[in-house]
Amino acid sequence: MNSIYVETNDKRYPIYFAHDFDGLGKAVEENGLLGRKLCIISDSNVSSIYGEKVKKALEDYFESIFVYTFNAGEKSKNLNTISDFYEFFLENHIDRKTVVAALGGGVCGDMAGFAAATYLRGIKFIQIPTTLLAQVDSSVGGKVGVDFKNSKNIIGAFYQPEFVYINTQTLDTLPEREFNAGMAEVIKYGPIYSHEFTEYIVNNKKSVAQRDKHALEHIIKKCCEIKAEVVSKDEKEGGLREILNFGHTIGHAIETKMDFSLLHGECVALGMNAVFEICLKRNTVNENEYKELKELLEYFKLPLNISSIMPDEVYSQMFLDKKVKNNQLSFVLLEKYGKPFSTTQVNKDEIYSALNAVLR
Ligand code: NAD
Ligand code: GLY
Repeated sequence: MNSIYVETNDKRYPIYFAHDFDGLGKAVEENGLLGRKLCIISDSNVSSIYGEKVKKALEDYFESIFVYTFNAGEKSKNLNTISDFYEFFLENHIDRKTVVAALGGGVCGDMAGFAAATYLRGIKFIQIPTTLLAQVDSSVGGKVGVDFKNSKNIIGAFYQPEFVYINTQTLDTLPEREFNAGMAEVIKYGPIYSHEFTEYIVNNKKSVAQRDKHALEHIIKKCCEIKAEVVSKDEKEGGLREILNFGHTIGHAIETKMDFSLLHGECVALGMNAVFEICLKRNTVNENEYKELKELLEYFKLPLNISSIMPDEVYSQMFLDKKVKNNQLSFVLLEKYGKPFSTTQVNKDEIYSALNAVLR
């Protein structure tokens, strides 16, 4: 199968790229997981479309298969849902040999992974991502967790899966708004890695929007390669991995303040727009690069600004983020296009001028 590897200090695992679920059993076999119990965790939308297909693809490879379905959406991403998972695990005698499969988007992957990381002090899990966002970002790299009170992903762990199986055909059923939100995370990889990748997206944007399987496989694989390289060098976000949070400092605060009425990717788009404002004022990106980013975000119907919240609200919310260090906000900026760095040295005026540019 077409695959790449993620290598951390104590684990090496594959990401498979496919257009169906036919290779899923082989992936289970290759990774030494045959003959165990399997607990598939999925959300209400994904389970009804793909639950049976995945079960069928795996029935010859596991001793028994259990399926737990939760209500789709970010509002489910909390400790109450995790508690429901644990109850289901207990009722079905899930043991140390059981494998948990996350079948769904980032919400499902983050929660199933967190439950797997904590139940019985850790049981094995696999990622079968079905949104673009999950295929290019959340299913890779082992960040798992939930939101708590007013803070996103504030409770969690680093817990790597046994493998990630990406069936790009699942994107055929993804609603357009969700697809476009995933494109925000795809577009993010350009400024933080190379302009060449941005050029590919710009030149192939029509095929990508039409979900052409070759264009999609190209961008998904490239994003996974970049993420795998970053995670392999800095699994626990001691430094380098922070670059993946490009646009997220402001993005996460907007997401929470908007009470999750905007999608994660839409907020990342707003956050990237704000960061480009800062970089433009610092002369580390030029007008053309900024224009190109805005045009790409607009092409994928992503917001460049919103008017329903005030800069003060977002500014205060940013201090509740897990990226805050010693009460200082941390931003990923660009030294130049393709060269990101993380810094706490961004002054309040710069932050407000960026917030004013996107919140109007
Ligand atoms: P999601 O999991 O809520 O999925 C979006 C919607 O699409 C849901 O309604 C879902 O039911 C539906 N869906 C999923 N796959 C489908 C398919 N193939 N066909 C039809 N409908 C489908 O959201 P998401 O955008 O995938 O993930 C967002 C979450 O990911 C956020 O909670 C964010 O914090 C998290 N995240 C985590 C990481 C990480 O590194 N762990 C990185 C980025 C984002
Ligand atoms: N999505 C950011 C990270 O995985 O580190």
